Amino acid sequence: MWIAGSFFVIGLRRLGRTSVEIPVIGLGTWEMGGSYAPDYSRDREVIEVIRYAVGCDVRLIDTAEMYGGGHTEELVGEAVREFREEVFIATKVWVSHLRYEDVFKALEGSLRRLGTDYVDLYQVHWPNPGVPLRETMKAMEKLALEGKIRFIGVCNFYVPELEEAMTYLSHFDIVSNQVLYNVRDRGVEEKILPYCRKNGITVMAYRPLAKGAILREPYRGKLEEIAVKYGKTVVQVALNWVLRHDHVVAIPKTSNPRHLDEILGAVGWRMSDKDYERISEMFRV
Ligand SMILES: NC(=O)c1ccc[n+]([C@@H]2O[C@H](COP(=O)([O-])OP(=O)(O)OC[C@H]3O[C@@H](n4cnc5c(N)ncnc54)[C@H](OP(=O)(O)O)[C@@H]3O)[C@@H](O)[C@H]2O)c1
Repeated sequence: MWIAGSFFVIGLRRLGRTSVEIPVIGLGTWEMGGSYAPDYSRDREVIEVIRYAVGCDVRLIDTAEMYGGGHTEELVGEAVREFREEVFIATKVWVSHLRYEDVFKALEGSLRRLGTDYVDLYQVHWPNPGVPLRETMKAMEKLALEGKIRFIGVCNFYVPELEEAMTYLSHFDIVSNQVLYNVRDRGVEEKILPYCRKNGITVMAYRPLAKGAILREPYRGKLEEIAVKYGKTVVQVALNWVLRHDHVVAIPKTSNPRHLDEILGAVGWRMSDKDYERISEMFRV
């Protein structure tokens, strides 16, 4: 466990094949502090929700250098400044910074904005076919050897890209692959989920609420019947379904503490295998 003496109410899952455990639910931060450019208008609210999340044991925060043109990292840093060691910060290097030297510069920028001297998980945000993967992964490994990042992760990697990326690492594993996964968007189920399970790679499900679409028809109606059966909400059922795989964690985004309370009710219980399957069937395309 990475936080000595802490008591976790939301549950932990092993990160890759490491001895480190991370919360089964983390906080996404896309559009907190701006989308492609900074938006300073809701800084206080963002900082407060991040602190609220950490207080609820959501000690995994997912961000990226690209979010809010860098401002989101600043807000994350500000929010956790007084208890940085207790939080697992995952950030990402953007696609235009994947050349060897650029990865170092990008990390320096992230460290500065986050106000920290290390990142827990550094992720390649998207593959870039225009840059040899070897360059990026060699830079990531050097950063890990220097202790500036604790773990190496990727996002949006298909199996051949994962396989290739791993061949360039001698001392570290790829511990996680962050991918789009929710009841509606299931593209990872056929190959990526089984591959990651077999190879000890944690799957970090992004957009697990389909950006709120599950609360609208036709998705809401389909999930409601099952939600009523378990005395849960549609949000809780949708997240619980994503988390039925024990190598998956999810990183929903919310700026609203009441929404976070609801999100936390997604864990600590299970549906019957039949109901998991029913949901899978309902949304099969
Ligand atoms: N690696 C990548 O390429 C990649 C791509 C996309 C996203 N991500 C990461 O994944 C995170 C999550 O994805 P996402 O933000 O795109 O979508 P999401 O988490 O599926 O959905 C976020 C939306 O759901 C709403 N919401 C959350 N909880 C709710 C609740 N209990 N009731 C009603 N509405 C609720 C939020 O609004 P409120 O704020 O009002 O609650 C927000 O509009 C991102 O923030 C980011 O960190 C990574």
